[in-house]
Amino acid sequence: MHVGTSSRICPFHIIMKNQQKQQTNPRATLSRLLDMGETQLIIDLFDNVEIDTPEEVVSAEEYTPVNTDALNKLEWELKSDGGCQRCKLWSGRNKIVFGVGDPNAKIMFIGEAPGGDEDRIGEPFVGRAGQLLDKIFAAMSLSRKRGIYIANILKCRPPGNRDPERDEVEACMPFLLKQIELIRPEVICCLGRVAAQNLLDTDLTLGKLRNVIHNFRELPVLVTYHPAYLLRNPAGKRAVWEDMKQLLKLAGLPLPNEG
Ligand code: URA
Repeated sequence: MHVGTSSRICPFHIIMKNQQKQQTNPRATLSRLLDMGETQLIIDLFDNVEIDTPEEVVSAEEYTPVNTDALNKLEWELKSDGGCQRCKLWSGRNKIVFGVGDPNAKIMFIGEAPGGDEDRIGEPFVGRAGQLLDKIFAAMSLSRKRGIYIANILKCRPPGNRDPERDEVEACMPFLLKQIELIRPEVICCLGRVAAQNLLDTDLTLGKLRNVIHNFRELPVLVTYHPAYLLRNPAGKRAVWEDMKQLLKLAGLPLPNEG
C-alpha cells in the first residue's frame, strides 16, 4: 500500500483563539503554552491530517489466505441463515457489524457496539467518530487497510445506543475472541470505558484504566478515550496522541515524525 506524504504531516495544529495564527513549530509551542498555563488554546489535533485512500496493492508475502479465509468463515457463521440470534439484539438490528481491517493487523482497536450509522452500513466506526478515528490512524501512518483491524464488543446495535447488557456480551464475546485469535495483533486498544470494562472484565473507571498496560490472553492492551468523547472534548486529543505513540511502540511500528 502506498501512503502518501500527506498522511505523514504533523497532526499538531494549534490555533490561538485571538490571533488565529498557525505556529511554525506547533508541538514545541503547544507544550510551552500549556506549561505557561495558556487557557485560550483550541487544539486542532488530527483535524488537518489528510487521508489517502489509493488502491491497495498487497504483495504475495503479505497476503495470508489462512487468516482471511478463517475470518470470512467466521463472518459467514454470524450472518448466515438470516443472521445470529444468540441474544435479543437480533430483532432490532438492521445489519450485523462484524469488523473490518487488515487480517494481518499489528494493532486491533475494539469499540463498544455499532451505532445508527454502523447498523445501517454494516461496518464499525463509519459515523463522525469513525471519521475522526480514520484521521488518528492516518496520523499514525496506518489505515483500516494497512496495519489496523477494528471490531466491537457487540456486533449488533443496542436500542437507543444503550450500554451492552451482560447476556449480550456473553453471547457475542466468542466471536470477538476468535477474531483476536485469528488476527493475533501485537497490541489491542480499547476505545472507551465500556469496551475496556467488558474486554478486561473489570469495573474500574476510564481514569484508572488509562496509562496502564493491561494483559489479555498474553497480549498487551491499552485503553484510550472513545472518539465520540473526543468530538465533545477536543482537548482529550492530546492524551490520545500520547496513547497512540505508546501503541505504535508496543506494536513495534515506527513513530511518525512530529516535525
Ligand atoms: N461506537 C463504537 O463503539 N463502535 C462503533 O462501531 C461505532 C461507534
